[in-house]
Amino acid sequence: MRTHFCGLVDEALIGQTVTLCGWADVARNLGGVCFIDLRDHEGIVQVVAEPSAAEGNAAVVATAEKVGYEDCLRITGTVRRRQSVNPKLRTGQVEVVAETIEVLNKAEPLPFHHHENPGEDIRLKYRYLDLRSPEMQRKLRTRTKLVSALRHWLDARGFQDIETPILTKATPEGARDFLVPARMHAGEFYALPQSPQLFKQILMMAGFDRYYQIARCFRDEALRADRQLEFTQLDMEFAWVSERDVQDTVETMIRDVFREVADVELVAEFPRMTWAEAMRRYGSDKPDLRIPLELVDVDAQVQGSGFKVFTDWAGVEGGRVCALRIPGGAALSRKQIDEYAAHAAKYGAKGLAYIKLSETGEVTSPIAKFFGDDAFAALVAHVGAGNGDIVFFGAGKYTTVSDFMGALRLKAGRDFGLVGGGWRPLWVTDFPMFEWDDEAERYVALHHPFTAPAVDDEAELRAHARTAVSRGYDMVLNGNEIGGGSIRIHRASMQSAVFELLGIGAEEAEAKFGFLLDALKYGAPPHGGIAFGIDRIAALIAGTDSIRDVIAFPKTTGAQCLMTGAPSPIPDAQLAEVHVQVRATGKTLGD
Ligand code: AMO
Ligand code: AMP
Repeated sequence: MRTHFCGLVDEALIGQTVTLCGWADVARNLGGVCFIDLRDHEGIVQVVAEPSAAEGNAAVVATAEKVGYEDCLRITGTVRRRQSVNPKLRTGQVEVVAETIEVLNKAEPLPFHHHENPGEDIRLKYRYLDLRSPEMQRKLRTRTKLVSALRHWLDARGFQDIETPILTKATPEGARDFLVPARMHAGEFYALPQSPQLFKQILMMAGFDRYYQIARCFRDEALRADRQLEFTQLDMEFAWVSERDVQDTVETMIRDVFREVADVELVAEFPRMTWAEAMRRYGSDKPDLRIPLELVDVDAQVQGSGFKVFTDWAGVEGGRVCALRIPGGAALSRKQIDEYAAHAAKYGAKGLAYIKLSETGEVTSPIAKFFGDDAFAALVAHVGAGNGDIVFFGAGKYTTVSDFMGALRLKAGRDFGLVGGGWRPLWVTDFPMFEWDDEAERYVALHHPFTAPAVDDEAELRAHARTAVSRGYDMVLNGNEIGGGSIRIHRASMQSAVFELLGIGAEEAEAKFGFLLDALKYGAPPHGGIAFGIDRIAALIAGTDSIRDVIAFPKTTGAQCLMTGAPSPIPDAQLAEVHVQVRATGKTLGD
């Protein structure tokens, strides 16, 4: 249908006849001369329909006058040099003088035009219109380039791409499972994989040595800008490795791929930090190192104060009292301080004490009264606060305080323009093996239940479960967890011990993971791996905050596809076939 792509028409074609297909991005009629910006996946070229003596010219101009937004056109014309060059367009030196204009499909009035910066809901409902925009085309192309570069890198190094099942048994990664009723087994269900974790481990036991897969994962969890119900991992596993073997390999891969896809040179050796240090200094297990602010523990400085909230937690096991100094923060108004407190409250803060030191040294603080002058001065000195600063304080459970103070650090970094440029990768290591779940009153795995503990002895693990460290690691980039992995348990006895510590009894372990426990018995090699979030890396490289922008058809934060209307009710007959009866939801077909 066409001889060239719109976006690639250039000076080399001047004087030649071309046939182009594309959408009318914009059409303007300037008193008998019509300009059409014709757009395809490569870009835009200007088409002109102007009166001339040529045969049929009047009809061409008449057709051009009626062209509307997003009409599908096929245009034949001659390329000529443009009088007024448009430096913003790749084709800005030239234009095409139309000799024929064929309207292949007239577009009805549009719900929106991509020039208008429409709201996300309408963009998602008419995703095909949204995706036509050069910006969305660019973002999805970035993703394609990323996946292709990763594949090439891995293929060249002997990693074997192996598919694993989508209809499977639950693989726990800490989220809820999506279930699929089994028609041929009444009352039974397949689970969609939260990750290919168990299959990739079994592939190592099956002798494949190095595996990868661009794997779709399914997790029924709350959606956010960096989380979707279904997302894509670059999933990898290696046999006969220690953590440094895995980390060094994938660090090189990420560095090479960023160079190729994003033209970014990441540091030669990614810094490394233990989980404990990350929590202590940044209140986060995925610290954004571009922000120069750090948390400072003040247990010793507040212990002698008369403020019960502080003294209740200072120096107490499992408690934390810490401070965040924001240089220049004294400029915050009372209302803005309340906004900070409200932000902290979203992360579990019960209150947010502060000390504000005005430019002239005046102190405003709801907690000053609880301190003697010397103790107050010592506290201020310990956190390094000076005139013009504000210091926020958090007291409470260690994890809660770290969470909300970490969240404040991010907010302050953004609000005060303190986020530095560039790319700051980081390995976070030495995660706790278990986390105590207050509600369930049992341990849960911080990574997943197949992660090896640092100690190789079951009795020792049992004796020190609360403080046990795992062989898990995360790769963090600019405050995003882009990958997570671990060295795995490769002996059945250790795996059983970990299940037991997680409150999974022998019978349940056998029912859920019997196949894994069996496989571990017959010569399972030491192995480990990692999975990267493709959506998150693509979003970072494309320069967008939301992974929805690099997924062609994402779900909303309300877990819906606005274009197709999924999820939707199913007719009773179809449900009966899969032996499912829906409990009353108040919804009927067609809602
Ligand atoms: P993990 O659960 O850390 O590890 O996932 C690996 C990476 O996948 C990305 N990710 C997500 N991206 C978008 N939406 C989500 N809901 C989502 N959840 C996770 C993150 C994360 O770092 N089986 C292990 C890996 C292993 O141990 O090898 C696993 O799935 O970037
Ligand atoms: P109160 O005496 O209760 O008014 O508290 C004095 C200050 O301490 C207020 O600014 C509260 O917001 C703050 N505050 C209360 N609880 C906490 C907490 N757990 N962590 C940090 N600050 C708190």
